[in-house]
Amino acid sequence: MENLRQQIIDIGNRLWRQGMMPAGDGNISARLKPKMYLITPTKVSKGFLDPERIIVIDENETQLGGKGKPSSEIAMHMLAYKLRDDVNAVIHAHPVFATVFASTGMELPYDLLAEVAVKLGKIPTAPFALPSTGEVADVAHDYIRNYNAFLLKNHGAIVLGRNLEEAFLRMELVEHLAKIALITKVLGGYEKIPQESIAILEEMSKQA
Ligand code: 13P
Repeated sequence: MENLRQQIIDIGNRLWRQGMMPAGDGNISARLKPKMYLITPTKVSKGFLDPERIIVIDENETQLGGKGKPSSEIAMHMLAYKLRDDVNAVIHAHPVFATVFASTGMELPYDLLAEVAVKLGKIPTAPFALPSTGEVADVAHDYIRNYNAFLLKNHGAIVLGRNLEEAFLRMELVEHLAKIALITKVLGGYEKIPQESIAILEEMSKQA
């Protein structure tokens, strides 16, 4: 448990330092063992957490430990663990460039960077839901089932991973893609990766 707590703290700091969790935004959770989870507390900076503030909950969202209250988006995190046995970590953040795409209605491209097909898959945008309410879980339901990363309209991004490090790297990649995609728009577009190469990359993703 100590190790997983520390990983949440470290990843909160890495995301905060990259500007993806400003102003107390964002939340992180991990499956500790069957029916037991760790999640960040609500309404505090996720950049400077300490072990006592990491909340321990069971599958009914009953708090078993940790100072403060669990994230207001706990329902979305718990839904991910319920729907996906392969998911052991969930991160929600507000990365600037990804949120620009989420707010303009422009989709993030799938055929721009090879790593996206290998490490992420397609990144659709879920409809708007009131942040910090169960509405986020409602709109996220089908996206959690079918994708490893997706955006929330006018809000931010959600990524799922087999572990915390994988989820973190996926969040970084979403934002990296969004930055490059935006610049290609400014410069008048990009050359698409050929469809047959995408198919090979998708095969590679099964071994990753
Ligand atoms: P919490 O601090 O309650 O986790 O909420 C932060 C957030 O990003 C809401 O969208």
